[in-house]
Amino acid sequence: MIALGSDHAGFPLKEEIRAWLDENGYEYKDFGVYNTDRADYPVYGARVARAVASGEYEKGILCCGTGIGISIAANKVDGIRAACCSDYFSAKYTRAHNDANILCMGARVIGGGAACELVNVFLNTGFEGGRHADRIALFKKIENGEEL
Ligand code: RB5
Repeated sequence: MIALGSDHAGFPLKEEIRAWLDENGYEYKDFGVYNTDRADYPVYGARVARAVASGEYEKGILCCGTGIGISIAANKVDGIRAACCSDYFSAKYTRAHNDANILCMGARVIGGGAACELVNVFLNTGFEGGRHADRIALFKKIENGEEL
């Protein structure tokens, strides 16, 4: 199950991604926004991030104008590894090496066709584990304020 969200700037891209998820048979919940009225991206970044961190949703997809603000918001939530991507290689390797659990994209950065390709590779690439898992474990230490 995928958690989906955006602010007003990301809304048109979120809608294209939502249509793609429908066409490709993915289950998701849309956490808003539901129109282009001005909205604060930290609110929607946090809602999706908390839904993913709770374990109820396996992955999240977030859109704002740049993809950056909403990724910063999502990464404030413990257990979240939100990656802002606009190219295929990054979307693939943030899964393989970072075990990213939220993909963030900018509606003012990439078009819908490219974004859906990134969503596809993000959802279908597994985490490689091994040495990468040791690094992910260090994220938890950062969250806990431990020395590195
Ligand atoms: C909204 O205008 C815009 O600032 C926001 O969508 C995002 O790009 C912030 O990072």
